[in-house]
Amino acid sequence: MEKRDKIYEGKAKVLFTTDNPDLLIQYFKDEATAFDGKKKGIIEHKGVLNNKISSAIFKLLEASGIKTHFVEQQSDREMVVKKLRIIPVEVVVRNLVAGSLAKRLGMEEGATLKNPIVEFFYKSDPLGDPMINEYHAREFGFATDAELKLMTAGALKINGILSEFFDKRGIILVDFKLEFGEHKGEVLLGDEITPDGCRLWDKTTREKMDKDRFRRDLGKVEEAYQEVLRKVTEKI
Ligand code: C5P
Repeated sequence: MEKRDKIYEGKAKVLFTTDNPDLLIQYFKDEATAFDGKKKGIIEHKGVLNNKISSAIFKLLEASGIKTHFVEQQSDREMVVKKLRIIPVEVVVRNLVAGSLAKRLGMEEGATLKNPIVEFFYKSDPLGDPMINEYHAREFGFATDAELKLMTAGALKINGILSEFFDKRGIILVDFKLEFGEHKGEVLLGDEITPDGCRLWDKTTREKMDKDRFRRDLGKVEEAYQEVLRKVTEKI
């Protein structure tokens, strides 16, 4: 696939057009940001690791009947994806209390939830991705009712598939963020699934294996991502 013009540069990825108008190349960078871009850094080799982790997970999801934008991994840092009209609603699924949920409700991190919690956030860098609900999404036209239903059902199905997948590899899927988009009338899973947008804890030690190591200056960030790649690609 031939890479042409840069059409978007985000905090961790760059999108390029290709010789096929329906397809884009998603390029993964080593840059890492946290706290709405206030903290910036580099995680060595993150782009390569995240491209490989996300490719493996998209393949797993496709094989389990989830429709995604993934076409193929093209190189170490590049993935060919279907062009999406991104729905500006980020969907977060939580299995344990952590992160902004712990902060918002004054709860201690680590309690297991009886049922997964689904949350919506309005995708807006200038506003810092504020939390919204279905009423806001519908009222302001961020997503239609049909899209919200598909995203919620998809997110819960993905949670089931990935929780089991990680559990078998000794990892707890604490929470994660998904983005969806529309391609030729269909809602597809987009973006990436990597330790940048998931909380992953070692099942035995509860050690963090995700971007919280960068956010909280815990050290051994690259090593944690390496370990996630090793586990994700492990044949069991
Ligand atoms: O910060 P919070 O606890 O709401 O994050 C929930 C999950 O969503 C975490 O795994 C986090 O990495 C991910 N997330 C993300 N991008 C955002 C907000 C959250 O990937 N803008």
